Amino acid sequence: MNKVLAVVGSPRRNGNTHILVSKIAEGARAKGAGVEELFLGDLTITECDGCHRCWQDSVCSKNDDMLGIYPKISQSDALILGTPVYWYGPTGLMKLFIDRFVYFNCPQNRDEIKGKSAVIVVPFEEETFETARLVIEFFEKSLAYLEMKLVGKILVPGVSDRGDVLQKPEILKQAYELGQSLA
Ligand SMILES: Cc1cc2nc3c(=O)[nH]c(=O)nc-3n(C[C@H](O)[C@H](O)[C@H](O)COP(=O)(O)O)c2cc1C
Repeated sequence: MNKVLAVVGSPRRNGNTHILVSKIAEGARAKGAGVEELFLGDLTITECDGCHRCWQDSVCSKNDDMLGIYPKISQSDALILGTPVYWYGPTGLMKLFIDRFVYFNCPQNRDEIKGKSAVIVVPFEEETFETARLVIEFFEKSLAYLEMKLVGKILVPGVSDRGDVLQKPEILKQAYELGQSLA
């Protein structure tokens, strides 16, 4: 059974990111995957300050919720990474989360992330895809650096209020099918 870790990087519960990530998770579960959802807004994830303890001892020096998440990432086959566009970048929650992937960049821990699949989910208010360009490049470059495989993108312009994406059934179908393909 494939294991999928679904990460909601918007602080808004039942918002567009949450709905889309959950729809991908639903598709994966329907095909037999085991899916765990993480709502980053519920967790305490402090910033990576570049202490590089992980490079010396293979462990992170920060005593927060990320310590319990590292094994979940290592044990998963695929990650779903969702963030809305916030000021043309990812949310602070998602940036803090990805910054802590320095742990996987040290030579001893690299095999724990290398080769894993990921999909990204990015809703935003403006109507042009250009708005999401920096977020997409942030993920493309960071995941490639970690030797992960970016296997799908759900980019949704024109959604602003909580739940606006529910008015876009074709996107929800695309998200569900992407989830099925992860399983
Ligand atoms: C702090 C903040 C910054 C935002 N910056 C942008 C932006 O630069 N471009 C844009 O199109 N939408 C921006 N938005 C709108 C969100 O991307 C949009 O409402 C999205 O659907 C929210 O997703 P959520 O429901 O998952 O939180 C911003 C929203 C907030 C709260």
